[in-house]
Amino acid sequence: MTSNFHLEVGADRLATLTFDSPEKKLNVFTRTALQELERVLEELAGRQDVSCLILLSGKPGGFIAGADVEEIARVTDPVEAEAGSRVGHRLFAAWEALPFPTVAAIRGVCLGGGLEISLASTFRVASDRPDTKLGLPEVQLGILPAWGGSTRLPRLIGIAEALDLILTGRTVDGRKALKLGLVDALLPDARFLDAVRDFALAHAGSKRRDEAGIDFKELLLEKNPVGRKILFDQARKKTLEQSRGHYPAPLRAIEVVRVGLEHGVKAGFDAEARAASELAISKIAKNLLHVFRLTENAKKETGLPGAEPRKVSSTAVLGAGVMGGGIAQLIADKTNLPVRMKDVNDQALATGMMHAAELFDKQVKRRRLSVPEAKRKMALLLPTLDFSGFARADLVIEAIVENLGVKQEVFAETAKHVRADAVLASNTSSLSIAGIGAKTPQRARVVGMHFFNPVGKMPLVEVIAPEGSDPVAVNTVFAYTRKLGKTPILVSDTPGFLVNRLLMFYSTEALWLLDEGYKIEDLDRAMADWGMPVGPITLTDEVGIDVATKVAHILHDAFSERLPVPAWLDKVPESGRLGTKNGKGFYLYEGKERKGPDPSVYTLLGLHPDVEHPDAGLIADRMVLPMVNEAARCLEEKVAKSAADVDLALIFGTGFPPFRGGLCRWADQEGLGPIVATLERLESSVGDRFRPSDELRRTAEAGGFYARFG
Ligand code: NAI
Repeated sequence: MTSNFHLEVGADRLATLTFDSPEKKLNVFTRTALQELERVLEELAGRQDVSCLILLSGKPGGFIAGADVEEIARVTDPVEAEAGSRVGHRLFAAWEALPFPTVAAIRGVCLGGGLEISLASTFRVASDRPDTKLGLPEVQLGILPAWGGSTRLPRLIGIAEALDLILTGRTVDGRKALKLGLVDALLPDARFLDAVRDFALAHAGSKRRDEAGIDFKELLLEKNPVGRKILFDQARKKTLEQSRGHYPAPLRAIEVVRVGLEHGVKAGFDAEARAASELAISKIAKNLLHVFRLTENAKKETGLPGAEPRKVSSTAVLGAGVMGGGIAQLIADKTNLPVRMKDVNDQALATGMMHAAELFDKQVKRRRLSVPEAKRKMALLLPTLDFSGFARADLVIEAIVENLGVKQEVFAETAKHVRADAVLASNTSSLSIAGIGAKTPQRARVVGMHFFNPVGKMPLVEVIAPEGSDPVAVNTVFAYTRKLGKTPILVSDTPGFLVNRLLMFYSTEALWLLDEGYKIEDLDRAMADWGMPVGPITLTDEVGIDVATKVAHILHDAFSERLPVPAWLDKVPESGRLGTKNGKGFYLYEGKERKGPDPSVYTLLGLHPDVEHPDAGLIADRMVLPMVNEAARCLEEKVAKSAADVDLALIFGTGFPPFRGGLCRWADQEGLGPIVATLERLESSVGDRFRPSDELRRTAEAGGFYARFG
């Protein structure tokens, strides 16, 4: 009937409208699709031969993915943004007003605008297929549900649950959706279409849904103005705590939901449209959309050209420490296949197993796993002190001490116990992969697979292909990384690879600021306020002071006067401070809980924390601009292939604030000219290490990181 929609009316008066976006994997409400929907609606409104209409997807992968993100990214005019919201209101109101009931038949993803048209349907039914996901992820893109979702959802499932979905952007599966009252029925996927038709026939002619779902107590609280105020106040407080005021969309969404509930649907729609007109054109939304695009593009990468990855069924991990334990747990969790974990002593193995058990426990507490599932996955971890089981391994991941000599020996020894085609990967933070493989026969299969701490949380893995490495080995690691639910980025075999190299310029500057008399808590607060997930000193405690110090020395050796380290650096680990892992660091700890900064650190290092009223802007410049300076060098040296890769790697590997769009994009927005000027000022006031690199000057002349490196 149109290119996106196909209408069929059966002899039984059941109609189906099938949405099937041409040339797309998932259905998306593009401008064209909306125009076509409008025509379909005009026709439907006059049909006398329909008793019930089913909205179906023609895509096997999902129902509707939402609005076209590229179209939102292009909007720069508030009037156009508001009009975009009003179109959705108008069309979905017409959908809601059709003279017969409508059933949204949800199978697979149902996000954003997809859920909003479902909310305007008389009934929603969901498949029990595990990948069925319903949600309103708009705030993650810096906007809010503005096609009626912010207004309709709380009316359907209550304020508290609606705010939870809208403010987090999280998705729920069919089962949870049924529990929330978000769908009216959960249908078996095996006979989904038949079950949908049965449901539709049973509800034909009825425009009223059954009033089910919402808890009575909750309704009492929500209907009472004082209770409602408490709910909104709590949501505001929690949102501010989490966003530190950097993300306006969730706060705005709370206000829109409130207006919609207190002043009626029309006022709710008006509030949605106004909020959309401001948010969609904001710099923050554009930056978040940019990050979304980077993430989508990264999914298409496959590693080195011209080599197919090999299948990985059997794996082994060397080292049961902070990283090894986390990696082995991740493998068991994501692949449901056994994984060997080898260490040199019983105690380390026991600690590694305990660490893994704690991680599974956390998932059970968050209801992501059932107790039997967690037990079954835990049983997949096979601790060992020898190489038993290694003969079967397709991939071995090493995460032992950061020492080149030890790693070389361990790789050479491991090679004797594995098949000739097994891939040997190192999780080293800073050592050369070629160096690690130097004593291993067939060193072409030694590659880097660099996870970030904590393994379960950080989405990045740097895949390092030393010169002469076997592209099959590299791509096997690349593909396997994705199987573990992580994003692989290819980087070169140079000191610190990409992320640690940049990060070391940031965290070493924090040490110099300490040296000048800045206080631990002031440095951490300044950077957390700037948007980093934790401040630099907390990060050092979390990474492990021994590991961080070793990496600092390795990178100092590589970059000499560009990356000087304070003379007192080694005193910190030598005093027994390893950070959170042994409860002793720059901060004080009580069990696992962090208390304030440890004042004895200043005495140990001979420092005088006497800077009062520190300038947060100056602190941020001193720590972030050296990263920008170094990023230009990394790109010219081809450590990473594009500015986009640098940005995604820092966001996924360090939590660099997504609302800033990434380091290179942030620098481009600030202007490389002014950044060079600030670096020059810092060079004369603080030291030579701030000298703007020739690479940065060239990048500035070329019009910025993205203009030069893409
Ligand atoms: P860790 O000190 O917690 O664990 C190292 C483990 O290796 C210990 O249990 C030790 O007994 C074991 N080990 C030592 N020699 C061994 C051998 N020959 N065979 C088997 N096991 C052996 O260290 P962590 O933090 O887990 O670091 C491990 C590696 O991961 C290092 O190369 C480090 O640079 C890297 N890494 C560390 C990150 C961090 O944030 N801690 C982040 C990313 C990489």
